[in-house]
Amino acid sequence: MCGIVGYAGGRDVVPVLLNGLKKLEYRGYDSAGLAIVAGGRLEVKKTKGRLGALCSLMEGRKAPGAVGIGHTRWATHGEPSFENSHPHTNCAGDIAVVHNGIIENYQKLKKWLQQEGVVFVSETDTEVVAHLINRFYEGDLLAAVKAAVSHIEGSYALGVVSEKHPDMIVAAKKDSPLVIGAGRGENLIASDIPAILEYTRDVLFLEDREVAVITRNAVSIFDEYGMPAEREAYHVDWDAAQAEKGGYEHFMIKEIHEEPRAMADTLMSRCRDGMIDLSDIGIDEALVRDISKVGIVACGTAYHAGMVGKYIIEKLARIPVEADIASEFRYRDPLIVPGQLMIIISQSGETADTLAAMREAKKRGAKIAAIVNVVGSTIAREADAVLYTHAGPEIAVASTKAYNTQLMAIYMIALELGRLSGHLDTADYQRYVQGLNRIPALMNTVLQTKDQISRFASQQFSQSSVFFIGRGLDYVLSMEASLKLKEISYVHSEAYAAGELKHGTIALIEDGTLVVATAMQRSLFDKTVSNIKEVKARGARVLAVCFEGSDMPADIADEVIRLPETDDIFAPLLAVTPMQLFAYYMTVEKGFDVDKPRNLAKSVTVE
Ligand code: M6R
Repeated sequence: MCGIVGYAGGRDVVPVLLNGLKKLEYRGYDSAGLAIVAGGRLEVKKTKGRLGALCSLMEGRKAPGAVGIGHTRWATHGEPSFENSHPHTNCAGDIAVVHNGIIENYQKLKKWLQQEGVVFVSETDTEVVAHLINRFYEGDLLAAVKAAVSHIEGSYALGVVSEKHPDMIVAAKKDSPLVIGAGRGENLIASDIPAILEYTRDVLFLEDREVAVITRNAVSIFDEYGMPAEREAYHVDWDAAQAEKGGYEHFMIKEIHEEPRAMADTLMSRCRDGMIDLSDIGIDEALVRDISKVGIVACGTAYHAGMVGKYIIEKLARIPVEADIASEFRYRDPLIVPGQLMIIISQSGETADTLAAMREAKKRGAKIAAIVNVVGSTIAREADAVLYTHAGPEIAVASTKAYNTQLMAIYMIALELGRLSGHLDTADYQRYVQGLNRIPALMNTVLQTKDQISRFASQQFSQSSVFFIGRGLDYVLSMEASLKLKEISYVHSEAYAAGELKHGTIALIEDGTLVVATAMQRSLFDKTVSNIKEVKARGARVLAVCFEGSDMPADIADEVIRLPETDDIFAPLLAVTPMQLFAYYMTVEKGFDVDKPRNLAKSVTVE
């Protein structure tokens, strides 16, 4: 979950590396560093804390035409400190390494190297890589890196420079993302595309166990057997500006405002003349003829999108659905039945638990369809078929627009499964597709609730605990609302099925406790209202979310957010945005870093 970047070209390498790290800071931000080979010398600068501290350290330092690598860290082995910051070097200080991933056998390797006299200065797993490369170095840096990685178990994306090879970066990858930017007279490496977009839009994806040599004028890729590997460039068609704040105070609020466009783009990529077409990802008559079960696997917010999927696929297609948290699925000896479709959901396409769960399901014979946002990511490449969401780059750690587009994708799958299985007749199918098509426009109205929500948050931000309640799809939505609030505002919160409160949790409701109640399932409206009355009677303050025309009793809600009318099944698509806005404004009021919450990282590439 760290970010790595590297540059070989004619520009001043310092700002190129610092700009690249800035774009990768979402991956980790507890320390940063860089290594430059200039004038035949390797120079390493690193510091604990945010990137700003490294920028100050590098002020005035210019290194045109030098090669360099940089790193922004999310600590896994050892606390954030100067010693544990990357780059790490060998004892002589002439080889430097940046790493993203986890070296699982580092203790064993460390012991062996220590017996050979190596003195370690950090607690990290990465430092063993620098010493291993040194151990195998016999004048050929590429050969030394290859030998080193052949001893490593675990995951890695590596950038390596050495003062003995002042023109080159050696890169290697396994189970952690790494892209190569192919420019003119300059080439780059990075953990993610936004870090290189300013310099080139042509990207090569390194595959697992490959190594590459990057110089100013060439990129050479070698497979695990040392044979040259051909790679076609992928041309990135989105803009660098899409990865900038564009006048908004934070990425998160910008990304929330992009939701109508992102949802429309995701829908339009698959929907023409009132028909959805998913045949290219294998959702067709043949699949439905044999289908016995659908499995959905994901983590965090993407899992919550999967839970919505469970409710709507079962409702519209009457096919049994199991939704699993990826880190549980992979170890629970899951039962995959013949004809099972597995839907894997991931914004980044790199989440380690999700990737491992997907591999497990594949090994057990499931057919894999992935819903992924990042084009060319590992999950996208390894799945049998991909339904790309069109959220564009999502930078804020808290996922917003990516979730909305994951929902869009899930609704499309559910509608297609419903149509193909014959459980939705043509009239219902068309009515639902039209309803789905209206959502992006309705979202613009939903966004207008932001002043009301901001005002409410300014009165509530000192709450120490918030409960989100709802029934059916409103409950699933509450799970996402609760995650959003806790991950960025650090306010304790829980999501509860409204009917379940009375079985224990209602004991926590006292005078002034904030309860956010969603009542957008018309068939369950009266029951939810009864549950709201139960908490109100115990002194709760209530924020209610319902449709415009709902008959929400005036005496039970302190604040009511009214959303445009749509079919009940689409409620999560509209109702999640006010929840994201609520989490956002609560966090702004508390003065915390909205885009980079503590202890988290955007892309969780470790187990
Ligand atoms: O990239 P992914 O969608 O696979 O990420 C999964 C989760 O780590 C992610 O959704 C996480 O829960 C977000 N921080 C939520 O806002």
